[in-house]
Formats: sequence, C-alpha cells, structure tokens
Amino acid sequence: MNRVVIAGTGRFLPEKVLTNFDLEKMVHTSNQWIVERSGIHERRIAEPNVCASDLAAPAAMLAVQSAGLKPEDVELIIVGTSTPDMHFPSTACFVQAKIGATKAAAFDLLAACSGFVYGLSLAENFIKSGQFNNALVIGAEIYSSIINWEDRSTCVLFGDGAGAVVLTKGTEGRGRGVIATHMGADGTHSSYLNAPGGGSAHRFTPDLISEKKYCLTMKGSHTFKVAVKSMVEASETILAKGGVTAKDLKLVIPHQANLRIISAVAKQLGMDESLFYVNLDKCGNTASASIPIALDEAFRAGRVAKGDLVLLVAFGGGYTWGSALVEL
Ligand code: ACO
Repeated sequence: MNRVVIAGTGRFLPEKVLTNFDLEKMVHTSNQWIVERSGIHERRIAEPNVCASDLAAPAAMLAVQSAGLKPEDVELIIVGTSTPDMHFPSTACFVQAKIGATKAAAFDLLAACSGFVYGLSLAENFIKSGQFNNALVIGAEIYSSIINWEDRSTCVLFGDGAGAVVLTKGTEGRGRGVIATHMGADGTHSSYLNAPGGGSAHRFTPDLISEKKYCLTMKGSHTFKVAVKSMVEASETILAKGGVTAKDLKLVIPHQANLRIISAVAKQLGMDESLFYVNLDKCGNTASASIPIALDEAFRAGRVAKGDLVLLVAFGGGYTWGSALVEL
C-alpha cells in the first residue's frame, strides 16, 4: 500500500488582535465569562477588505516551501471553508491563481469546522489511488464576516485564520504518514449550528440583511454536548482503525472550539489533558483552519517531530466530525 505523508505545513493569521476586553466594549460580556466558559482570551480578526484566499495563499506558500516543492509542482488544492471568497469560483481557484499553482486542480469542501480533516481524508485517498502525486489541503476562514457582532453568545468565540499542509507520496526517511482517517455527519442537527441566509434556501433580500440572517447562529449547550460525544467516538474509532492505543500518541490536536470541550474529551478518553494541543486562548475558534494552524504551530515549536504519532479530531456544523491518525 502506498504511504501518504505530511511533507510540509504553514499558517497565516491576520495581524489585528481582538481581546476579550475589546469585546467588553462591544457587547454585554466580560473577560471573566469568556475565559471561564471557553478558555479564549483573544482572537485575530481580518480587515474588511481581506478574504479567505488572502489568508490561505500565504499559509499555502509556507506549506509548499517547507515541503521542498514549488507552486507549479502542486497537483491538487482542496480548501475547507465555510466562509469562501464567493459562492463561486471556489476559494481554491483563487488560491491557485495567487500562489501560481498553474498545474493544480482546485476545489472547495464544505464541512464547517471538520473541513480540514475531511479534506485530508480526500487528498490521502486521491494520492493513494495514484490520481495525484501531491495535494495542498487548506483550512481558511473569515468567520468575522458571518458573525453577528451584537450577539454576545457567538461573537466572543470565533476568529479568522488559515492553515495548510502538503501531502505527498511517502519517501524514504519519513514516517508512515496518514495511517487512517474517519468522517461522519448527522444532518438532522443542522438547525443547531448554521449560517442560513444567502444560499438558495434563504435568498438575499433587504430583510435578510437587516435581520442578520446571513450570520452564524448556534445553540451552544446542544452543540457542546454533541461535540464532546462525537469527538470521543471519532477518537476511539480512529485509534481502533489504526491498531494503536492512546498511550502511543505524542499529541492530540483537537478542533479549537472551547477548552471545556477539550477537557471533557480528554477525561472521557481517560487521557491526560496535557497531551491535547491548545491555542484557542490566542486564536479563538477558527473553524476549518483551527487544526492545520495548530499542527503548524506544534510542528514549528518542536512540540511534535518526525516519527511522532498524532491524532487530529474535529467537530462542526452539519453536524460533521472527523479524525485522522498521522505518523509525522
Ligand atoms: N457573556 C456573558 N454572558 C453570556 C455570554 C457572553 N458572551 N454568552 C452567553 N451568555 C449568557 C447566556 O445568555 C446565558 O444566560 P441565562 O442563563 O441568563 O440565559 C448564560 O450565559 C449561559 O449560557 P450558555 O449558552 O448555557 O453557556 P455555556 O456554558 O453553554 O457556554 C458556549 C456557551 C461557550 C457557547 C458553549 O456552549 C460552547 O462552547 N458550545 C459549543 C461550541 C462548539 O463546539 N461549536 C462547534 C464548532 S463551531 C462550527 O462548526 C462553526
């Protein structure tokens, strides 16, 4: 069986920092509430003239460079995003043009916060099948563009950013690469976490804009409970599929939605919380970008190295969930 490895990683975050203290001036909230309920202290917010591909392109370039490739070597670009530049063309096509990946096929994938893990699974299978030799998988989001900045229950949680990896066929001297992936969804829960307006179901009208129907809505406590259950199950499934146990893992990179979700998942899996990578304190929830941003951070900070076994586990709107077991 062909091996598919992570050959390079990259991330790019907007410069502007929005702190909990800034939010105290915008809505009726407090730094204490946000930290206690979510673990988030600050998040990065893109300027209004910046779109998802503007964040994705520099993250992609870093991933391509760290893989030792040139943009024209890239054969496939998948962008996981729920805040694309436009309905169409895909954000992946904008990235392709911006980085000069002239030979790459390109498309977007919508699985909300699970978009990156879904993309990783697709890319791995495309490469294993022999259709492509490599793929750039990106998570890129501008959630600030779909946040209702008057809704304190959601506006304190999200941030903007992009992360990317390059997957290639395995070569000598690298780990086993992507060992297993898993994806799931339950569309009966779609109303608990969505951004309903602006698609064909709820078309743009002046009312839709004045009522902010294009914005994200979330039933937080329902989402919380299903997120914990789904992430625990997705972790157990992937460990069993990969034939390993939690003791074999060097690091778990969970979707960065809420520190209490991460603590509950660790506890239910019987794992030490220190094994779980956390950067939501600085980035907030960057949806499909959260796992590749964290992976790049962990890799560049030396928290993981070649040969380490890493579990990625995501949960998001849909609901969707996914997990991947990777030996770096
Ligand atoms: N500041 C102060 N008070 C607030 C705020 C705020 N920012 N937001 C809500 N409150 C109030 C509520 O109004 C409520 O008050 P009430 O009891 O008087 O009605 C109270 O705080 C408690 O609200 P809850 O929603 O029950 O708070 P909870 O402890 O559940 O925390 C949170 C809310 C942080 C949203 C949590 O439920 C959560 O993290 N949910 C899951 C998020 C998630 O996993 N999302 C999935 C990925 S995102 C994606 O796919 C796009």
